[in-house]
Amino acid sequence: MPKPPPKDASDLIPPRPTLPNVRAAAKRCQACHLWKCGTQTVFGEGAPKAQLMFIGEQPGDAEDLAGHPFVGPAGKLLDRALEEAGIDRAVVYVTNVVKHFKWEPRGKRRIHKKPNAGEIAACRPWLDTEIELVKPRVIVCLGATAAQTLLGRQFKVTAHRGEFVPSPLAPVVLATVHPSSILRAPDEETRRLEMKRFTDDLREVARALRK
Ligand code: URA
Ligand code: SF4
Repeated sequence: MPKPPPKDASDLIPPRPTLPNVRAAAKRCQACHLWKCGTQTVFGEGAPKAQLMFIGEQPGDAEDLAGHPFVGPAGKLLDRALEEAGIDRAVVYVTNVVKHFKWEPRGKRRIHKKPNAGEIAACRPWLDTEIELVKPRVIVCLGATAAQTLLGRQFKVTAHRGEFVPSPLAPVVLATVHPSSILRAPDEETRRLEMKRFTDDLREVARALRK
């Protein structure tokens, strides 16, 4: 009988997990079909004992090609907001709920597709292990996918952005919009306003880190 496909990535987590050995194991992950869709696994990166962890949805086109999280347009926007909020990139770890890029072709472009519940569940052990190993004091969920994965299916980012949510994941946990939603703003004025709200959320994060 052929072996059934694994239900999630948990069998791949090394018995004595460390960030380097978990990252290496994730390279070979085939726990869901997305390994065929993306170019490579894009694991989280940053300070190994980062006080602050950002969790996005999945790597985008640029991240898929580079093999690093948040290096494309959304990552650049995040970098700018961090700088404005006075948060040093050296205390930050960035990762995603899903580690492979899910996309569909549109002309010559690869258009991002939302991961589904099965893909999110399959990939979850990688994220849980990253949180356990980094043990951040503050976790920021970027956008609805990360927020609903970590804070519950009913969580509404629009209603509760920037609020500290009690959670066993870390002492301070909150959600805000995804930086790519700011890039999609319909006009310059909205983009400027949304960028300011995002930076204000990060200033609250900076304040929590100083406590
Ligand atoms: N969007 C994400 O959610 N994650 C990335 O790494 C890049 C863009
Ligand atoms: Fe494994 Fe996650 Fe990639 Fe699916 S998306 S193959 S679970 S690393």
